[in-house]
Amino acid sequence: MQELRHVTSINDLTIDEIETIFSVASEYLRELRDPNLPHRVGRSINTGSGAILATLFYEPSTRTRLSFESAMIRLGGKSISSADPATSSAAKGESLADTVRVASNYADMLVIRHPRDGAAKLAACYASVPVVNAGDGAHEHPTQTLCDLFTLLQEGKNLKHLNVAISGDLKGSRTIHSFVYALARFGANIMLMPAKGMELPEHVHWRLKNELNCFAVPRARYEKDNASVDVLYMTADKPHQLSLISDNAGKPRKNIDAMYVTRFQKERWAGKPEEYPTIDQRFLKDKKFSRTSIMHPLPRVGELDIALDTDRRAAYFRQAAFGVPIRMAVISLLLGFAREPGLKKYPGGFRPERHDIFDQSEAEGLTCINPNCIVHDAMEGRYARNRFELTAPHRLRCFYCESDIAEFIVGNRKTRHFSTDVSIPRDYVRNGRDIVLFADADAALAAGYSPVKRRRRAL
Ligand code: NCD
Repeated sequence: MQELRHVTSINDLTIDEIETIFSVASEYLRELRDPNLPHRVGRSINTGSGAILATLFYEPSTRTRLSFESAMIRLGGKSISSADPATSSAAKGESLADTVRVASNYADMLVIRHPRDGAAKLAACYASVPVVNAGDGAHEHPTQTLCDLFTLLQEGKNLKHLNVAISGDLKGSRTIHSFVYALARFGANIMLMPAKGMELPEHVHWRLKNELNCFAVPRARYEKDNASVDVLYMTADKPHQLSLISDNAGKPRKNIDAMYVTRFQKERWAGKPEEYPTIDQRFLKDKKFSRTSIMHPLPRVGELDIALDTDRRAAYFRQAAFGVPIRMAVISLLLGFAREPGLKKYPGGFRPERHDIFDQSEAEGLTCINPNCIVHDAMEGRYARNRFELTAPHRLRCFYCESDIAEFIVGNRKTRHFSTDVSIPRDYVRNGRDIVLFADADAALAAGYSPVKRRRRAL
């Protein structure tokens, strides 16, 4: 039997699969625009699938939920929705895990939005039909990234080696996390313009650098460029390309292909940054923005001047419209009724490396350090395992929310010893039952463990 495919991260998809999604989406787009097609019903394409999509939304949404539902209906399927946690069994205290186990019987595919990071991955562990992440906390929003890249293609841009500027709340915007991973994989140069304190999370930087060959360039080299904004350049492993987006080396500036604007994610943070980047005509008057596509996942709340709406560079309403053909492609490929082979044909997805997994059923010792991770939800966390990917000898990635832990110590349940200078043994998989991880020596001592006598002795 083929492995069930879920899309909880943009990295669940290979470049090949992303390109397949785009070619299927372009075909749908062409058909949606062609009034003479015989199998059109109104503005829908009847594939005769009769499939059912369930949208389970625990957080507000307009575009994502409606475009998923519209996409399924335009494919000739049906859509059922639980859009308000206050009126579903969530209000009675039902867990996400139980809800998706039940909803898997009512629909052929589940689309989930949730305020907790890692919620989609947890749901995927319990669902028996494909799960698509429609935004989980500040973690990821992979289908938004598919819309974003597809928009750039439709605007006539080549996805290889794009120059993209991104502004706003880069810490809390899940759209940005999926977007930068994809951009890096297509070899982009990225200009990061975060609001103060809203920089990309450290673990996203680590992954860009260590798994996707996308490096931050020392700021000082480019300080002459756009002095009014605090910019960090990231580049795909060919630093010479930076001359393309900066003129400080005396070379002509290259066009910025896209200016991607995000709102402050007020639902995730207390307070508001004192200053927040606003993009308007004045900002975009520089020559390097003359052919830029202005993008925003929407909703906008003041950070993107409405005076730009009539600017020919404004791409954000087209970007939202592409949500339908893109989601039609995702649905039909996942369910295997697209004319192209379904995503089920590529069960592995994009994984730069297959990491070892540290996995325990009970959460003794160290747990995910991200306070918004689903594992820390009093109810949902009971359905999660204490599970990490070992991304480097001494680095753990939460299986659910994908945030990292770089510091921890290793203890042995049998000997009740711990060591501060060993990594998780490679033969962990065999002896895993005995390993326990702690945040630090104090946590191990508090749990009744004592330090191992000699350095590097077996625990
Ligand atoms: C985004 C989201 O929900 O993450 N919206 C969307 O899906 N188009 C962006 C946002 O809410 O800021």
